[in-house]
Amino acid sequence: MECQIINKIRNIAAFTAMVAITGLLTGCYIDNEEDLYPQTGGCDTANVTYTLSIAPLMADKCNSCHGGNSPEAGLKTDNYNDLKTLAGDGRLQGTVNHLSGYSPMPKNKPKLSDCNLAKIKTWIDNGALNN
Ligand code: HEC
Repeated sequence: MECQIINKIRNIAAFTAMVAITGLLTGCYIDNEEDLYPQTGGCDTANVTYTLSIAPLMADKCNSCHGGNSPEAGLKTDNYNDLKTLAGDGRLQGTVNHLSGYSPMPKNKPKLSDCNLAKIKTWIDNGALNN
């Protein structure tokens, strides 16, 4: 008899804990989402890094021509040092934003999205770090 009551209390405690944890997780998830996308439109420029934002973008849009042993125009976008040079002398911004005096990039392909352009600008404004 005593055992049954204790088991019941245990079950109730376990159930309550489960509900509480589920509630906590759900709450945190929603908070995080708001933190992750501070700007309207869902473009996250708050956490731009070379490794997580810029290198994957170059791999997707640029390295097919500017990578490997014989890159177009002798320019490589597939490593930090070469890209930092292009960022520092204005060619990265000039080409992707289709500024006059620069060859528009990616060549013969649609301009990068506003969000990707914003990420490149943020990365350069923050010092084009190898982060
Ligand atoms: C389809 C191949 C191709 C792709 C993709 C491409 N490029 Fe180019 N890029 C070229 C060629 C070819 C040139 C030489 C100039 C020309 O022909 O317009 C060039 C030149 C450049 C230059 C020098 C241009 C100047 O005016 O000084 C930069 C900087 C550059 N590309 C950056 C990029 C970046 C950044 C990307 C990705 C967003 C990219 N390229 C994607 C082919 C490409």
